[in-house]
Amino acid sequence: MATAARKITLHTLGRMKQRGERIAMLTAYDYPTAKLLDAAGLDVLLVGDSVGMVVLGYPTTLPVTMEDMIHHCRAVARGASRAMLVGDLPFMAYQVSREEAVRNAGRLLKEGNMEAVKLEGGREVADVVSAIVAAGVPVMGHLGLTPQAVHRMGGFRVQGRDPAQAERLKEDAQILEKAGAFCIVLEGVPAELAREITETSSIPTVGIGAGPHCDGQVLVTQDMLGLFEDLSPSFVKRYAHLAPVLREAFSRYREEVQAGTFPGPEHSFTREGGVYGGR
Ligand code: KIV
Repeated sequence: MATAARKITLHTLGRMKQRGERIAMLTAYDYPTAKLLDAAGLDVLLVGDSVGMVVLGYPTTLPVTMEDMIHHCRAVARGASRAMLVGDLPFMAYQVSREEAVRNAGRLLKEGNMEAVKLEGGREVADVVSAIVAAGVPVMGHLGLTPQAVHRMGGFRVQGRDPAQAERLKEDAQILEKAGAFCIVLEGVPAELAREITETSSIPTVGIGAGPHCDGQVLVTQDMLGLFEDLSPSFVKRYAHLAPVLREAFSRYREEVQAGTFPGPEHSFTREGGVYGGR
């Protein structure tokens, strides 16, 4: 009898760091993709607020709401059984007050069926991280290029290039760890800085545009599949280029419908036979 693969938890990720095993994380926003990612053995599925850009068509992540997040978290949770599930707290879900932050973090677990939340920022969110952890919700931090602060950063720019900013980010990583975060995403920082933060943190780091020295890597799935063509960040490796494949399939369908060659007899029912086959 086949044994079920062991559930990934925050303890698994901590052990992976200690053993030098790399953590593989990707974003997911829907049930079928979550199923495929889980079956492929991804350790962590992140329901990122990047959903706002790559699925909902907003220019930034700022308009994403708690309702949007819960909707997508629930779909992902239905598709995954092994991977650890992390949901992003969207912009303004944790900045206004500690109470609101704890309530919203709780909603991602109670209503969204997530197992942890992620939020952006360093020392300015340390109190909030502690309060959410104290309420029993694991927190993943996010430092460096924090997309919810796009306007404060003056665009999507690499962070930590000057020594003072780099020092501040190193301190922020320590502060998040002390506040109780179990893992930190490092986005858009120089590889050398990510290496220093990774070596001085007891908790795992997961990089995106942060070079090869982090304990794990994450990409936005739509980017690595070549499905989202509005932006093409230089740090993304395309493991497939699906947009042209989809364009070609949609055009062929339109042509066949217009030509009357779809549906053929094999896609039609007779009075005597044919099974509907779902949906
Ligand atoms: O929202 C997201 O997808 C993220 C990743 C880029 C880390 O925060």
